[in-house]
Amino acid sequence: MLVGWGGNNGSTLTAAVLANRLHLSWPTRRGRKEANYYGSLMQAGTVSLGLDAEGQEVFVPFRTLLPMVSPDDLVFDGWDISSLNLAEAMRRAQVLDWGLQEQLWPHMEALHPRPSVYIPEFIATNQSARADNLIPGTRAQQLEQIRRDIRDFRSCAGLDKVIVLWTANTERFCELVPGLNDTAENLLRTIELGLEVSPSTLFAVASILEGCAFLNGSPQNTLVPGAVELARQHRVFVGGDDFKSGQTKVKSVLVDFLISSGLKTMSIVSYNHLGNNDGQNLSAPPQFRSKEVSKSSVVDDMVQSNPVLYAPGEKPDHCVVIKYVPYVGDSKRAMDEYTSELMLGGTNTLVLHNTCEDSLLAAPIMLDLVLLTELCQRVSFRTDSDPEPQGFHPVLSLLSFLFKAPLAPPGSPVVNSLFRQRSCIENIFRACVGLPPQNHMLLEHKME
Ligand code: NAI
Repeated sequence: MLVGWGGNNGSTLTAAVLANRLHLSWPTRRGRKEANYYGSLMQAGTVSLGLDAEGQEVFVPFRTLLPMVSPDDLVFDGWDISSLNLAEAMRRAQVLDWGLQEQLWPHMEALHPRPSVYIPEFIATNQSARADNLIPGTRAQQLEQIRRDIRDFRSCAGLDKVIVLWTANTERFCELVPGLNDTAENLLRTIELGLEVSPSTLFAVASILEGCAFLNGSPQNTLVPGAVELARQHRVFVGGDDFKSGQTKVKSVLVDFLISSGLKTMSIVSYNHLGNNDGQNLSAPPQFRSKEVSKSSVVDDMVQSNPVLYAPGEKPDHCVVIKYVPYVGDSKRAMDEYTSELMLGGTNTLVLHNTCEDSLLAAPIMLDLVLLTELCQRVSFRTDSDPEPQGFHPVLSLLSFLFKAPLAPPGSPVVNSLFRQRSCIENIFRACVGLPPQNHMLLEHKME
């Protein structure tokens, strides 16, 4: 179930799964295109199994290594404060080629987002015009309605599991206040009393209480300590924050490369402009601030990993700018400049320009998040010190590859480096089929 189902990401993901299930193809000015899942680690990525008898590496698709849910078996539902059906939402998003939209229209027209919780102070005022599909009542009544929606969907569609994914607009940060949202008990009381709680936290609480994993694709601090404690009490997975799609993904590769090569990166400047509704919402300072914080934390672990280059507390200057330019629509432009110090006073400046359809990057990530979370719900393991089988910690840090500001269990290190995040997933998959972790030594090829 997607919160913000009628947005660019929500409608694009729904369209992508339908287009693949229906094996659609459509004409474009560069020839006929067929539905695919490029950009999905699970559907389009591969993993090495090791060497064959001839010493050649054998790769298999990620999705075939373990029994995973097929995207064809997903059923979509969700909420949006805008009442447009999914076909109209797809048209509003202006992401897909016209020929594809035409074919999808009859399949998407019947899909209607459920009314949602709108608290104007959490998103930009420029969003008020689309808020025509709302759950009335007190916070406690709204929470109950979301829980009823989840139960209704689960029983009507005859589902095994429901996973809730927040892909609605970026909210402003919620203040962390002792007594308000610091413990599960206080958070539930806050909702009961109608005190300050963000819509996304309400959805997180409803999902957890219904036993459904909750994933946060936006940067705000939805998973306040009280929500995390509630997830632990109910043994439900939560994950976040903020889909890692374009610029940040490149950053977590490039800075890893620079610092791990021994170059001292001193300044990172990231400039974006985009013209979709996400961009419009982010043009308001409190919502931009959530994004700025999430985009800025991404190099912390790499800097800390190298005390040869950086003194304690020292870090590169890091500046993030986002501008709203309606004309470019969903085609986001990102310009980045990385300046590093070389030996003997040299300077290296790298400049990158990235243009892409934002939602076509985000949708496969959303798919991976859901399929990986579902898989993790079926994994258990034993340790030497505890013979009882146990599952992963409710804060599912295995999803870090897919999130800009990964949530990790309290006290555990946050890993931002993309390759370390990928090998975490790869090696856990390998462990599940009894293979040792991939260490890339290739000793077989280093002997006479
Ligand atoms: P969008 O603005 O097209 O879609 C968001 C949808 O959420 C809208 O349809 C809006 O009506 C709805 N909405 C707002 N508040 C709601 C509420 N309380 N309950 C239910 N629905 C609500 O934005 P887009 O491009 O789909 O992005 C969605 C989110 O994902 C944004 O927060 C964005 O920052 C985040 N994100 C997007 C990435 C991308 O590459 N597209 C990457 C990383 C994060």
